[in-house]
Amino acid sequence: MILKQMLQLIRLLGLRRAGRMKRRYEKALPHVRGYAATSCYWTLLKVGLLDAMADGPVELEAFARDRGLDLHVLDSICSYFDGIAVLDYDHDARRAGLAKLGRDLLAEPRGLFELLYAYEPIFTDLEAMLRGDKRLGRDVQRRTDWVGIGSGRLCRQLPYPVMIDMVRRNGGRNVLDLGCGDGALLMELAAAEPELRAVGIDINGPTADLATRQIAAAGLGDRLSACTRDMFDLPGNHADLAAIDCLTACDTFHEYLWDGDSRVVELLANLKAAFPGARMVIGEFCKQSHESLRKRPTAFLEHHLFHQLTNQRIETADRWRDIFGRAGLRIVEEKVFDLVGHGYFVLE
Ligand SMILES: C[S@@+](CC[C@H](N)C(=O)[O-])C[C@H]1O[C@@H](n2cnc3c(N)ncnc32)[C@H](O)[C@@H]1O
Repeated sequence: MILKQMLQLIRLLGLRRAGRMKRRYEKALPHVRGYAATSCYWTLLKVGLLDAMADGPVELEAFARDRGLDLHVLDSICSYFDGIAVLDYDHDARRAGLAKLGRDLLAEPRGLFELLYAYEPIFTDLEAMLRGDKRLGRDVQRRTDWVGIGSGRLCRQLPYPVMIDMVRRNGGRNVLDLGCGDGALLMELAAAEPELRAVGIDINGPTADLATRQIAAAGLGDRLSACTRDMFDLPGNHADLAAIDCLTACDTFHEYLWDGDSRVVELLANLKAAFPGARMVIGEFCKQSHESLRKRPTAFLEHHLFHQLTNQRIETADRWRDIFGRAGLRIVEEKVFDLVGHGYFVLE
């Protein structure tokens, strides 16, 4: 039957044209599917279905009823996800669970989806931004709390273990984390070092509040805290910062490089003066060349795009070394992973 239909199509279109069309559709499909699948992934993640499925298949009718969700929409998404093998969906029983692909997408790559969700408003308004009808900051903003959620999850995989090791070996016991996001680094530090106390600051109120809630939920409120504060206003009159012996910042400073590096140089010099004797453990993106990304088109291409579109400049490891030097800081230790575009520095 299928063969007969294929022969009919080839007769209608011609063999070469039919073959070329097929190949072109196959090239287009991952891009189109990426958009549809990502939108569905965000939706199921946000209503809690993907996490609920981590414990086993879920009865969709009860799930929709308990949360006031539209069963038809839920059913449509789950059918689609069954089609592309993210879920296993038993239509008759209206029961769906994670397939192997779904479990994989919910493991390490989850942070990629969360980070993309943080920048989704930029993509939604991309044409308006291109036409000059909307401006970044004034009309369009990223979701900073989701930057914290996505970044925190991704950084748990490599950056935090490297930075935590650096903090411990450099005697950090009272840590101040600049741009703490959802508090993930604070919580990982506390888990690794039972004696450690830490304060996180973030300029974004909802993000600092999220960190506070997560710290409380993890039962670490006696050793950790987070608050809304601007790192450019440090130290200010804050008794809680008197004992700080180590400053950390993971992927925070690059947000201030768009108009040149003088603000970051000045900030680092001020921090050095405000916290004499405290070492700094910095994790930052280190730019990979466009040529190397073309050869190995990793997720850093999307990452560079988010940053370009939101006026955040990613710099090379050499440029960071220069910035630290001009701020009067000495590099005590460094680890730069060109392959993943990230570098770690202990400074004094
Ligand atoms: C890319 S996120 C990194 C978050 C976190 N450090 C992590 O490891 O996931 C940068 C964070 O720095 C915060 N930030 C930006 N400017 C800041 C400032 N002037 N003072 C304090 N936090 C700031 C942002 O709100 C954002 O949460």
